[in-house]
Amino acid sequence: MKIFKQKQLLYSFLKEEQKNNKSIGFVPTMGALHEGHMSLIERASTENELTVVSIFVNPTQFDNKSDLENYPRFIEKDVKILEKTNPDIIIFTPSVEEIYANNVTAETFDFDGLEHEMEGKFRTGHFDGVGTIVKQLLEITIPDRAYFGEKDYQQLLIVKKLVLKNNIPVQVIGCPIERESNGLAMSSRNERLPSETRKQAAFIYRTLLKAKDMFGTKNASEVKEWVESQFQQERLFDLEYIEIANAETLRPSEQKKENEKYRAFIAVHANNIRLIDNIALN
Ligand code: PAJ
Repeated sequence: MKIFKQKQLLYSFLKEEQKNNKSIGFVPTMGALHEGHMSLIERASTENELTVVSIFVNPTQFDNKSDLENYPRFIEKDVKILEKTNPDIIIFTPSVEEIYANNVTAETFDFDGLEHEMEGKFRTGHFDGVGTIVKQLLEITIPDRAYFGEKDYQQLLIVKKLVLKNNIPVQVIGCPIERESNGLAMSSRNERLPSETRKQAAFIYRTLLKAKDMFGTKNASEVKEWVESQFQQERLFDLEYIEIANAETLRPSEQKKENEKYRAFIAVHANNIRLIDNIALN
């Protein structure tokens, strides 16, 4: 197991491996690893000769100081989990200074409008922070393939756009959402939910599944209104948004078109913890 903390050392190591024609798979994470992350890491391990996992809680993508401070950090546990999964995994755990030196700020990006929808509206500057860190991590890890979860579907599309616009030679691979047995999308933030709330949070996915059913016969605004009414009755969860959008442009769907793919996206607060989820509707 190799653990790098310095970007230059990791880059030099990987550059050498690349010269020997080793394929590199990369999975960026913020740690507190769960089965959602592990599904990406396992896939990277089967598809590449080398797998690099980064663990870095990126300050510039948090719009809320207390969310950043309370973000779960279990680095030793994470290293053990990775070692058990694949002892050849290469781990990158830089410090904030290593990544940002003395300037902890984000670059500004134009993602052709993807950044203005949903999470972009509710988390100011979030995708500039994601773009800044992912671009740098891709430059350091020079992967052939990089793996991102559909759990953060908007992030996945934004990373694809980042790579396209900056001509970064990597294939971005989207991976399906892993769920807890009750349907709740796995997330590092679930750790912070009281156990009763965590059980009841199954309500979020149940509502999305029903919304998917309804979307067969109803239009987007009717489905959204129905979801809103469900959350008005469910006092434990505060609905931040429900959106039904084109799965490529993320523009809100007004008139359903036959040959377009749609997804429903949701953000919910429970006990001051923000949860997101999404589902393909057709
Ligand atoms: P993090 O939330 O740690 O997630 C790391 C990767 O795991 C992301 O691609 C995310 O979509 C994926 N993931 C999380 N939960 C998942 C689940 N239940 N099923 C499938 N995949 C899941 O996303 C980030 O970190 C950061 O924004 C990052 C890309 C590392 C940049 O800082």
